[in-house]
Amino acid sequence: MAAIGSAVGLGNVWRFPYVCYKNGGGAFLIPYLIALFTAGIPLMILEFSLGHWSRSPPPLAFKKVNKKLEWVGWLSSLTPFVVASYYVVVMAWCFAYMVYSVNLLWEPDAENFFFNFLGKTSGISEIGGISIPVLLGLIAVWLSIFIILYKGVDRIGKVVAITVPLPTILLIILTIRGLTLPGAIEGVSYYLTPDFSKLLNVNVWLSAYAQVFFSLSLAQGILITYASYLRRDSDISNNAFITSLADAGTSFLAGFTVFSVVGYLAYVKNVDINHLGIAGPHLTFITYPTAISLLPFASAIFGMIFYIALLTFGIDSAFSMIEPMASSLNRKWRISKFKATAIICLVGFIASLFFTTGSGIYWLDIVDHFIANFGLVAVGLLECITLGYLYKVSLFREHANKTSDIRIGRWWDLLIRYVVPSILVMLLILSIVENLKKPYMGFPVYALIIAGVLPIVFIVIASFVLQRVKR
Ligand code: PFF
Repeated sequence: MAAIGSAVGLGNVWRFPYVCYKNGGGAFLIPYLIALFTAGIPLMILEFSLGHWSRSPPPLAFKKVNKKLEWVGWLSSLTPFVVASYYVVVMAWCFAYMVYSVNLLWEPDAENFFFNFLGKTSGISEIGGISIPVLLGLIAVWLSIFIILYKGVDRIGKVVAITVPLPTILLIILTIRGLTLPGAIEGVSYYLTPDFSKLLNVNVWLSAYAQVFFSLSLAQGILITYASYLRRDSDISNNAFITSLADAGTSFLAGFTVFSVVGYLAYVKNVDINHLGIAGPHLTFITYPTAISLLPFASAIFGMIFYIALLTFGIDSAFSMIEPMASSLNRKWRISKFKATAIICLVGFIASLFFTTGSGIYWLDIVDHFIANFGLVAVGLLECITLGYLYKVSLFREHANKTSDIRIGRWWDLLIRYVVPSILVMLLILSIVENLKKPYMGFPVYALIIAGVLPIVFIVIASFVLQRVKR
């Protein structure tokens, strides 16, 4: 349940629908499902198996594989921590919008979201002031993460028993409301009308793999850590299949939720859907609330339901990003869970303050771009290479098969050793070429270095240092 909580998050609600429609609509489901079965699920089985076999958080798990590899574990625990520093900021936006929905206080237009709410400055070099509503939301989110994690895994279990089913039910309610609105069918057909010609484009395939990677929380040490808490007789492969399919199902459903309402908005405003701009923050903080505020009745309630759903979807992903570091510090140096969690949340809070300033949204965009396109992919590649070549990967398969109903065959070894790494190498090369060709989104190079390259260099160095420091 906690793994599903980590996988299902903001990535399912705003990212999947738009990635899907951009890459061929209904036709995108083909590369998506292929990516899920050839990379997502095999890698999840590997991570579950490593955590379950070693019964350790990532650094110690990798150390058990090979003494020199502890740093790979640290790297995979530090990466989600960087993701957390901005992910919680998006949650803080949701928090503020949830409060605003009580009396529809938000004014759902781009102008208001960017300038009044975020206090966005005219460019990245102008820092601007801290946005107070975002700061308050941020404090609430970090405090919740701390309260959920410091007592240990039992409390995580209790929290996810609520925060996984609740938003799913809310999403279903919103979808039913959405689909009964005029214009909904046009919205949905816009989302799903297949454009098979897109399947000839290699970028569409790479987008499918990238989406599967981010959405399943792979290569983040999270699934290793969670699997280390499982009982000895827990079924590994079944858990991997259930987690992945639940995640994919939620993404697919969210497409209906979002596009039905987008269709309604186009209908009410009598404009073409193409002109509504549905990518990124526009979707969840401009397009969607605009549509909601136009509902014939109970718009405040539906607005609130939407932001509560986003927050409860997001919170399990957010605390899952902190748990690997907390668990690793606790196991390596016997720092109490309370202390370890407190230190990490405090550092995380200070780091995320950067993103509450007027230039925060620019920085957020850069960090997200680099960490999702390089950080995640590089860690995934390292995992496949270290576990696939420096260790007998078949031992992990045998370990998983010992407790699992679904028996995995030798094909899995081939996927981990050849197929997944080749795809990840391609993803990496493509991202590097693209970024060298032109600076991402036209940002100044110094900003790309500070927010994109430096965090990655920093966590690599930190990983080696953490390996070195004696127990
Ligand atoms: N899987 C989460 C989502 O789709 O929103 C995002 C995520 C969680 C990314 C955990 C990275 C991570 F470590």
